This record gives sequence, C-alpha cells and structure tokens, in this order.
Amino acid sequence: MSADLLHESAIGHVTGGAVYIDDLPHPEHLLVGKIVCSPHAHARIASYDLAAARAVPGVLAVLSAADIPGANQVGPVVHDEVLLATDEVTFIGQAVFIIAAETEDQCRTAERAIRVTYEPLPAIVDLRSAMATGALLGPPRRIVNGDPVAAIRKAPHRLAGELETGAQEHWYLETQAALCTPGEGPRMNVFSSTQHPSETQALVAEVLGWPRNAVEVEVRRLGGGFGGKETQANHTACWAAVLAHATGRPVKIRLFRDDDMIMTGKRHRFLSHYEAGFDGDGLLLGVTIELNSDGGATTDLSFAILERAMLHADNCYHVPAFSVTGSVWKTNLPSNTAFRGFGGPQGMAVIETIVDRVARELGRDPAEVRRKNFYREAPCATTHYGQVVEDNHLSVIHDRILATSSYRERRAAVAAFNARHEFVKRGIALTPVKFGISFTTTFLNQAGALVHIYTDGSVLVSHGGVEMGQGLYTKIRGIAAAELGIDPALVRVGATNTARVPNTSATAASSGADLNGMAVKNAIDAIKARMADALAGKFSQQAGGEATRPVDLAFAGGMITDGKHPDRSMTFGAAVQWLYLQRISLSAAGFFSPEGIGWDREAGRGRPFLYYAFGIAVSEVTIDLLTGAHTLDRVDILHDVGDSLNPMIDRGQIEGGFVQGMGWVTTEEILWDARGTLLTHSPDTYKIPTAGDVPADLRVALLEGVPNPRVIRNSKAVGEPPFMLALSVWLAIKDALSAIAGHAVEPLFSLPATRERIVLEAERLRTLARSERQ
Ligand code: MTE
Ligand code: MOS
Repeated sequence: MSADLLHESAIGHVTGGAVYIDDLPHPEHLLVGKIVCSPHAHARIASYDLAAARAVPGVLAVLSAADIPGANQVGPVVHDEVLLATDEVTFIGQAVFIIAAETEDQCRTAERAIRVTYEPLPAIVDLRSAMATGALLGPPRRIVNGDPVAAIRKAPHRLAGELETGAQEHWYLETQAALCTPGEGPRMNVFSSTQHPSETQALVAEVLGWPRNAVEVEVRRLGGGFGGKETQANHTACWAAVLAHATGRPVKIRLFRDDDMIMTGKRHRFLSHYEAGFDGDGLLLGVTIELNSDGGATTDLSFAILERAMLHADNCYHVPAFSVTGSVWKTNLPSNTAFRGFGGPQGMAVIETIVDRVARELGRDPAEVRRKNFYREAPCATTHYGQVVEDNHLSVIHDRILATSSYRERRAAVAAFNARHEFVKRGIALTPVKFGISFTTTFLNQAGALVHIYTDGSVLVSHGGVEMGQGLYTKIRGIAAAELGIDPALVRVGATNTARVPNTSATAASSGADLNGMAVKNAIDAIKARMADALAGKFSQQAGGEATRPVDLAFAGGMITDGKHPDRSMTFGAAVQWLYLQRISLSAAGFFSPEGIGWDREAGRGRPFLYYAFGIAVSEVTIDLLTGAHTLDRVDILHDVGDSLNPMIDRGQIEGGFVQGMGWVTTEEILWDARGTLLTHSPDTYKIPTAGDVPADLRVALLEGVPNPRVIRNSKAVGEPPFMLALSVWLAIKDALSAIAGHAVEPLFSLPATRERIVLEAERLRTLARSERQ
C-alpha cells in the first residue's frame, strides 16, 4: 500500500515547523500558570497563608484545594489522587498551590510570599521498607497453572534468586503542557499534551464541576509520551483549567524539565523473587515468580501495569507448572505510571534471568536453552493464563537470526577473544520477545473515527488516537488513502479532538493503529457503500445492458471502476462532485471493537490478547573491566510486524524502542535520597542514550510474509514490543562479566547494569577467579 509514506511531520520536526502547545500563537490576555510543590515526602499541612502572595503585582490567582470548584480528584482508575493537597502531602513534588500571573517572574515572587507550615511525618521512600511495613496499594494478585511448588521439588535441578529492576524517566522532549481558554458560559477549550484526550476532558469537567460536553480537548501532537502522558498529563490540564476558570483568562502551563522530572511518576521499579526447577537439558519444569512493584503514593495505573508484568512473566517460554504473584507497594514518591512495555519489561527480565542462569548452571548455550523452552505445538502452546499462542513465529525467527547474525561463529570468536584478554571481555546474548496486543482491561479496546470527503475530493480524517512521534497519523493517512484508492496527498489527518470523536481510549498498549485504523476503515466503508449504490445506478443507466452491481465497484488508482465492465468508470474527484449534487452524504462516523478477547481478572484465565507480536535480538558487547564502560558492538534484530503499514516507520519504532530499552538496562539510573528527594532530576545526572550511543552496527530486519489477518491491512502493532529486545544488551554484559570466572560463577547482577555495577562485579569476580587459581 502506502509503503514508506514519509512521516507526515518529518520535515516539521527538523525545521521547527511542527507546532507543539508551547508554539501555539498566544491568545490575548494569556497568563502563566505555576505549581507550588511539597518539599516533604510526608507531612501534615498545619497552616498556610496566601494573602501576601495574592497581593503580588501581576498575580491574578493563588489557589489551594479549597478553591477547586468541582471535585478535588484526578485518580484515573481508583479515586485516591487529589489535584491539590488538602491537609497532608505524601511525596516531594506534590502540588499544593497553583498560581496564575502575567509573567513567570511574578509567579516566582508569589511563590516566595506563600507562608506554609508543615509538620513532617515518617516517610517510606524505598521498596524494601514498604514491603517490611506491609504498605500495599491494593490486594495482591495471583495467576497459577498446575502445581509449581511440587514440580520444582521433584525437578533434577533447582535455582532461586532475587532480581531488582530500576525505575526509568520518560524523558519526552516536550514536558507536560496545557493551554486552557475559558469560553462563553460553562465552556473550556483545552490544548493538552495528553495521550488520553477523553480522560483529560472527563477530569477537567469533574474538577470544574461541569458536564463533559462543556469541555473540548484538542491534541495535534506530543513531543513524545512513552506512557508518561497516559494519565499524568491530566494534572497539568486540570491545574491550567482551574486557573483559567478562576481568572476568566487563558492560562498556559509548561513544566520546566527539572520540575517535570521531580513531579511526575516513572517506570515502576520492581523487586522480584523466583524459584525454578529444570531438567538436565535445561527444560523448565516449574517456576514461581513473586513480583513487587513500587507504586508510589497513589494507585494510578499500577494494577494494570502489574497485570501486564504477570502476563509477560513467561515471555516466550512454556512452563508446565507456573505461578506468578504480584503486589503493588505504597511509597512516599510520585505515583509511578505507564512506560513503554507497561510492566512487560519488568516481568520478562525475571524469566530471562532464570533461563540465563539455567544455561550457565548446565554449561549450555543460552540461545539453545531458550529455543528448547519456546512455546510450540500443543500441549506446549498454552500460557499460564490459558491463552493459546497462535501464529507463533518464534522458531522461524530464531532459525533465521541465528544464521543472519552468525551467532554460533561469533560466540566462538567471543570465547577466543576472552581467552586472550584479561581486562577486556566480550559477551553475546540472544533474547526473544512475545508481547500481547490489546488492553487487558477489555472494554478499552474500542475506537472511533470521523471521515469527511469534501466536494473538491480532498479528505479529512479524524480519529481518537494521539500522534506522539510514533507515526500514527502517517499510518492512518496511508490506510485512508488505500481504502479510498486515492493519492495520500488528498488525505489530511486532523488534530485529535474530543468534539469530533468522543469517548476514546488512551493511545497506548501499542494498539493505536490497530484500533483507530479499523475505525477509519469502518467510516470509509460506510461512505463507499453509499457512493457505490449511487454510482452503480448511474453506470447502469448510462450503459444499458447488464446492470452494474455496487459490489463490483473498485476504488483504486484515483478511479471508481466497475470490475466487470472496466469501461464504466469515473475519477474519484468527478464522482464526489456528482454525488454531492445527488444529495448523497460524503461523511461518516466509524467505530471498531475487536471480537474474541476476554479476560477474567479474578480467575486469572482467558484470552486477554487478540494476538502476539514476536521478535528476537542478538547483541554483542565489549566491557572494560577497569572502568566498567561498555560498547555495544553489533545488534541484529528480526521483528514481526505482520504486513507492515509503513516499513520505514516500523523500523524507526524498532530502533527507537530498542535504544530506549538499552537506556533502561544500562545507563539510566534513578536515585532518591533518604528523604525522598530525587537526586537524578536533570540531564546532567540522568543519562539517557543519545544518537552517539546507537550501536554503530545495528541491523534491523522485518519478518516477511507473515500477514496478520486479525488486524487492519494484515498489520501488527509495533510501538512497545521492541523495547524488550534490549534485554539482550543487558544479558550480553552479564555474559561478558561471567567470562571473568570462566562462566562458572553466577554474576551478581541487577538492572540497570551501570558502570559502577559492572566495575564492582568485575572486581569481585576477578578476586574470586584469582583465589580459585591459587
Ligand atoms: N514512539 C515515539 N516516537 N514516541 C512515543 O511517545 N510511545 C510508545 C510507542 N512509540 C512513543 C513511541 C508507546 S509507550 C506506545 S504505547 C505506542 O508508541 C503508542 O502508539 P501506537 O499505539 O500508535 O503504537
Ligand atoms: Mo504505552 S506505555 O502503552 O503509552
């Protein structure tokens, strides 16, 4: 189809022509909004006085929770999150007051003039302490299949351990932003950097005490979301809306980078425990995994994220007896939230650690042990939650990537290199991914669209999805052009707006193109059916003889043609003009919800996912044992995107997801001090990968010839799955470390594998290896 249609904003992104909220022309009388945050992780607000702040020249509003006209509540699932603190603060960075003034400087002066007395209370700012005190955010969850405890007891080999995986900052280039303009009567117009316009609309309406029809949210594009704007853009929009309502003037808030990093939640850090039983071939017989996540101060999406972690704790491996339990613990930190993979990476890191250890204990090649445990034909095709892994491409991908990456030869070369070098070691690792596509909260799997064909033949497509750089608008444009059989240049995708398409779900779970693409097709099908009926009548009348049937009309190449009588045809543009004169509607709303999915959360059984996306990566690293530095020498990826909607964009998603995952497993380390102060709150202390960190030799290939008939134009979702392929980088580093002691000692390893961790573990293993030789 529209293969390799250029990203609709590619030129705008690099020239500055792409407009973000902060670039919108300033409305008259625009005010600046500012948030005043808690300096304590946990404290009682004993008293406050806003009079002096309100008297600062240029300041139009200084508001507290008492000034919110509607509900002081922004919890997206559980209503446990206030917009502004009332009598208690529960994390550093929590909003307590909001200010609107003519200038940023006046906001700062007002902030300094606020008098607040806090009475500090005991705070819990680390996961182990939260677990020790029993502070749960909700009841633990459990999914069990078979009797893993007995299976492990009977197994010829056993292992057990603990794994820590770290938090991660989203580092979207555009920080949280909103511009709210009050209208006539109860009416608020909101530009928000949200992944979820309908939820932003709902919460703005609730905090203002209005019905939703009074609030319109528009989103043209985000400068990245990565899950960090799925729920946590709502706050900024609500603060701006409350200030705009109080002052009767437009208010813009754009968080400063450090404030954004301090105030908003991150990827959940996890502390996990595992036990596994296996046979002498490395086949897993029983596994138990206990996942513990740091939820932060409120619930946010923590349980959905925990659920996805539990549903991906198997990754690609069939384990006949398996149990996964999960708990979300409450800490005095900002509420952790969605981040690419949505718990999947945390769950997979555990089973990948298990398989890696099994291989080391048995002295086998980990790539072979992985292959042995892959889901395969029945009875080894069913997951621990009862879904059958259909259309499984794992073995095909494994066969191909072993060959194309020269895995075996390179493993031998790595071993030879390690035998020759004392202070530099190499490692290589292959890791697979199987990622379930669908929201596990089944009702969220729905989407809407609105398509207008204008009388000049140009087309405006609206849908519920949000463009955040991932190329959704480009894919939608390609889909619409292909379905109408016209040049993509005739199609424009309009800004996402709650007044055009209502009641939508977040653009998340990688399903933006799957769901919205099908809703767009549904709308186009409705228009095409009307067009075909009228045109068939016209063709039949003109030609005489055998009638043209509407079903025989083909929309292709900018023409509408009777497939049975190719001489009966009309250009798309002429047809549209004629249909308008015949008083035929050229506009339709579309809707889509996939069938055949369902998930019983209580029983832990069902078919939560419409299908799975598969991929495998092979990564090779060199580590310097004296500095802990590593280089990623080569990466091979083979990934399954079905029939790609746009190979160039899909490749971009695979590369981008992989590199973001690479950051999570290596350099990105989030640290808080004992008071709960974020120490890594700017780019000088928090290290995300840059263009220079992209592996010089990165070979990405799309699996060919694997149409996915369940989805629009046989495609597959691609947004999140490649993130988890970066576990290969992490395990390649572990493989290199493990070479220090001849692969005989299990490296102590957690995630991220920072330089410090690498250097300390290298030192420990070198000492061990030396003492062994003596
Ligand atoms: N790619 C870019 N460039 N920017 C983003 O913010 N978000 C990721 C992924 N790829 C993101 C991205 C996440 S977390 C998800 S869920 C999907 O895109 C969402 O978009 P999709 O459903 O259209 O794939
Ligand atoms: Mo993505 S974490 O589902 O926004």
